[in-house]
Amino acid sequence: MFRWDLSDGAELRMLELRHAAAFLAFVAANRAYLGPWLEWAHTITTLEDAQMFIRRGIARYAEDGLPWVGLWQDDEMVGGILFFPLERPPRSTEIGYWLGERATGHGLMSRGVRAMLCLAFDDLQINRVALQAEVDNARSCALAERLGFSFEGVRRQSWVNQGRLVDMAGYAMLAEDWRRRQGYRQPK
Ligand SMILES: CC(C)(COP(=O)(O)OP(=O)(O)OC[C@H]1O[C@@H](n2cnc3c(N)ncnc32)[C@H](O)[C@@H]1OP(=O)(O)O)[C@@H](O)C(=O)NCCC(=O)NCCS
Repeated sequence: MFRWDLSDGAELRMLELRHAAAFLAFVAANRAYLGPWLEWAHTITTLEDAQMFIRRGIARYAEDGLPWVGLWQDDEMVGGILFFPLERPPRSTEIGYWLGERATGHGLMSRGVRAMLCLAFDDLQINRVALQAEVDNARSCALAERLGFSFEGVRRQSWVNQGRLVDMAGYAMLAEDWRRRQGYRQPK
């Protein structure tokens, strides 16, 4: 099982079917907070829905090795991170994430996303990780900027959120950006 210790009692663990009840409880408790931005926060209402979501992550992992993880703080599920399907050959993907409201404001998701970028760029040789947030999603845009994603522009009306066409802020990080930020030297 994929696990990543973030220290201070925080940990990323690959989502497995045995986490479905915890995931359902997490979504139910945070529906009002996640709902404005994540469609699935409205549609996951039963254990079967939660299992179906997790199954999708497991299938994606089998296809391209990019895990869907839950974020645990002191053994309580407080959020998660997923990847969209890997596009080959550009070795490009997109990252998505969510936190329960009580877990926000402490840098927890910044640590989690940084760990997933480390996995993507350093272990899996991904070349580009995109990140899209609605232009009104200030906390998500702030996270992208905090982590050093480059802003690539607004894709107007490129997403539908609860029947509304919305503008998406597009960000991305390339492997070369990541390496530069990590202070890697190019071999001579
Ligand atoms: C997007 C989301 C994950 C951002 O959560 P967040 O708590 O702002 O992000 P982080 O966990 O990285 O924490 C950053 C906050 O902690 C603070 N912080 C404290 N210690 C920190 C540290 N060591 N490192 C970074 N930030 C720290 C930052 O100042 C920031 O707070 P501020 O916004 O009040 O200035 C969250 O708002 C969310 O899940 N929203 C709903 C779902 C969603 O929108 N998902 C994304 C769809 S595109």
